[in-house]
Amino acid sequence: MTSGSSPSGAPAWAALADLAGRAGAVSLRERFALDPSRSEHFAGRVGDLWVDWSRHPVDEEVMGLLCDLSVQRDVSGFCARMLAGETVNTTEGRSATHTALRASDGDETLGRMADLAAGIRDGSYTGASGEPVGAVVSLGIGGSYLGPAMAHEALAHLAHPDVTVRFSSSLDGADLTAALDGLDPATTLVVICSKSFTTPETMVAADTATAWLREGVGDDLSRHVAAATAAPGRAAARGIDPGLVFPLPESVGGRFSLPSAVGLALMVAIGPEEFRRMLSGMHVVDRHLDETPVATNVPVLLGLLDVWHRSFLGATSLAVVPYSHGLRRLPGHLQQVMMESLGKRVTADGSPTGGPTGPVVWGAGGTGGQHAFFQLLHQGTDVVPVDLIGVARPVVDPRGAHHEALMANLLAQAEALAFGRNEAETAALGVAPDLVAHQAFPGNRPSTVILLPELSASTLGQLVALYEHRTVAQAAVWGINPFDQWGVELGKDLATRFGDLLAGGSDRQEPSSGLIRRYRELLGPD
Ligand code: F6P
Repeated sequence: MTSGSSPSGAPAWAALADLAGRAGAVSLRERFALDPSRSEHFAGRVGDLWVDWSRHPVDEEVMGLLCDLSVQRDVSGFCARMLAGETVNTTEGRSATHTALRASDGDETLGRMADLAAGIRDGSYTGASGEPVGAVVSLGIGGSYLGPAMAHEALAHLAHPDVTVRFSSSLDGADLTAALDGLDPATTLVVICSKSFTTPETMVAADTATAWLREGVGDDLSRHVAAATAAPGRAAARGIDPGLVFPLPESVGGRFSLPSAVGLALMVAIGPEEFRRMLSGMHVVDRHLDETPVATNVPVLLGLLDVWHRSFLGATSLAVVPYSHGLRRLPGHLQQVMMESLGKRVTADGSPTGGPTGPVVWGAGGTGGQHAFFQLLHQGTDVVPVDLIGVARPVVDPRGAHHEALMANLLAQAEALAFGRNEAETAALGVAPDLVAHQAFPGNRPSTVILLPELSASTLGQLVALYEHRTVAQAAVWGINPFDQWGVELGKDLATRFGDLLAGGSDRQEPSSGLIRRYRELLGPD
């Protein structure tokens, strides 16, 4: 990254801006008519994943200039410095070492996690009463929840059938109540996942869960409460047995912490072997990022396409749409990865970016999405780039009736978005003249297709790392710091102040006094 400077000074920027003005002049239909083999050369492989970006408004010239921009903005240099453990998180004076967690066969912490996970899985890890622990409840929020919970659902087919693993994240007590429902404190381990070990949402849940455990097993919780944290001292201060405190480095950001101790509950569910396979899958993509020239570097190219849409074509959002039940929580995880990383209005040196940065990232499963938000994708007034994610070999396919239909829908959506159905074609179908405008599809709507051969721990790791590096590549172009998240702090401070205000019953006039009064009215008398 050119030390935080704004990217518009890069020579390729003006040329791309010029081309952007003309990008709409050639439709995707015309691009495919001119070059039917587009999906051969506007596509690439990373690990086991096949990624096709042929349905974007790009040609060789645009891709060449985007690669030039990447060189001029030293994207590879920034990635290399990240991979080398240099201080790339400048506003916090830290490196970003999530890739180091998956670079080797594992460190001491991973080994201790594996011992505990294996003990729970084979029934040899017992609670205070001597009964085997057969349930794990993981408490955490943001990066201490989203990645592991997403992966737990994606890899549910690999989970131990007799071990219960649940996640709880919301400050709303209904969430924790549901997570603990039906469990026996005597056979339950609660894992408190919090890098800082100060996050109020998690600490409130930890207090409630600890009280629940205590009611069931008494005061000795030394075999019932574990912690994954970068603040082991704070875990110790809460009385957690040091043997169950699993540290993660301060240099691993919450949203990048899936491969760390934060993944303990996931490891219990799928087992240490599969967890290691996930790390190996991530490492494959880390190597690809490091060793592949920009012209074929898939995460960098995807990041450059994101920049093309956001900075030059004015797209304001990115939809992530998995055609896989297992991947249904991927959009939620990626929201944090991409929006906490790229939601910045100043460059790393504190000056204004001078242009837009991260888009809104959203999405949901494709099958349901087609009957909810695809209307806007096809016929709305905004152009929304879409990632369509498919899995070639299904986890299950009852009667052999579901999977081909699912894939057919993914392919159909990519085609309909790209090529649409013009008014003449619509009229030719016999549509009444006054309905033609309503039933025609403009097309020319970009999508990326990402295909996994199967949903395994390895391919999931690859997919997650692909999005992580795509995000970092964008940040490098824009000159922003993808590893800090100062924007979450003000709300946290105010929540503390409002907590005090509500507890103290203050009648002081505030901008929110009206709301507080209404809340108290609805709450009713004590
Ligand atoms: O939302 C802000 C944030 O700091 C995230 O970056 C982080 O993943 C989350 O809160 C949870 O933080 P912690 O792991 O320290 O509880």
